[in-house]
Amino acid sequence: MQANEVARVLVLGASGRTGGMIAAALEASPTGVTVVRASRDHETVERWRAEGRAAVHLDLDDARTFPAALEGVDRLFLMAGYTVAMTHQAKTIVDAAADAGVGFIVHLGVFGNGRSTDPHFAWHELVERYIEGSGIPWTHLHPHMFMENLLTSLRLRDGRLPWPMGDKPTGWIAVDDLAAVAAKVLAEGPEIHAGKGYWMSTELLNGVQAADILRQSLDQPITALVMTPDDLLRMGSDAAPSFMEATYAASTLEWLQQTYDGRLDYAAVTTSTIEELLGRPPLHLADWATRNRQALLGDSVPHTA
Ligand SMILES: NC(=O)c1ccc[n+]([C@@H]2O[C@H](COP(=O)([O-])OP(=O)(O)OC[C@H]3O[C@@H](n4cnc5c(N)ncnc54)[C@H](OP(=O)(O)O)[C@@H]3O)[C@@H](O)[C@H]2O)c1
Repeated sequence: MQANEVARVLVLGASGRTGGMIAAALEASPTGVTVVRASRDHETVERWRAEGRAAVHLDLDDARTFPAALEGVDRLFLMAGYTVAMTHQAKTIVDAAADAGVGFIVHLGVFGNGRSTDPHFAWHELVERYIEGSGIPWTHLHPHMFMENLLTSLRLRDGRLPWPMGDKPTGWIAVDDLAAVAAKVLAEGPEIHAGKGYWMSTELLNGVQAADILRQSLDQPITALVMTPDDLLRMGSDAAPSFMEATYAASTLEWLQQTYDGRLDYAAVTTSTIEELLGRPPLHLADWATRNRQALLGDSVPHTA
């Protein structure tokens, strides 16, 4: 890439939550880049193109789709879904990115310490080490638990927030903030961000504390349903969210267990990454809840926000 050229940034997962927000944030970025969205779904690619957006077909399970998708790409946002397949998917696309001359990889990982033992954290750390061995400049993103999990695995049930970690807290981060950081890193490029890891945790809350914030923010009688990981297992089908592949889902139970029994106490911290990188405060749960009131409560509740 020449100094006066605009970087071409390929965003994986652009039909999903994080990738979609990153693509939108990149388009709004003051640092001009060309944003290319990737999807394994041909109809989605065609829809984006009809909207005038650059888009390519890329299936992380089919390496034959990689060379065409990576043609002319300077920077890659690499993420996978909630699946153990992230290991072979990341390995093969990193190989293809090296072959295609990609100059920067920004990877979406988790809030681990490099010595994680819970499986999906360990997979993410394997992927990071593989990226580091590829010779391509990299930045690793380490977000803590998404506030958006309140719309999926931690969704309210009859006004109760399920919390299968006893009284243990975890770190929370809004995907808006994660996406804003990712977009800034991708837009500014390896000269500023190569070799760095960004750990993101806005606030530290357990179930009772999070439910209190939701109750006050939404003015609804929300309480916490405090459980142990074993209690969650006994709930049966609710223990494994449908959007997660089975091995990944089993690993999230291990994460709950390690949080509950204290092995993840080292991760019970907040960070100042958002303020430092973005020069503004992060989104806290109270404001996130107000913004997401309808999605949190459903249509049965009057919309006051
Ligand atoms: N939830 C949390 O608290 C949390 C915290 C830290 C890190 N993370 C990490 O965040 C990642 C998930 O992010 P998210 O919530 O934004 O995911 P998401 O909304 O479920 O989106 C997943 C994206 O990946 C795409 N994808 C899946 N399989 C693909 C394939 N074979 N080829 C190409 N694209 C494929 C999906 O496209 P389709 O439309 O084709 O399905 C979708 O765009 C995971 O790696 C997870 O470990 C999550």
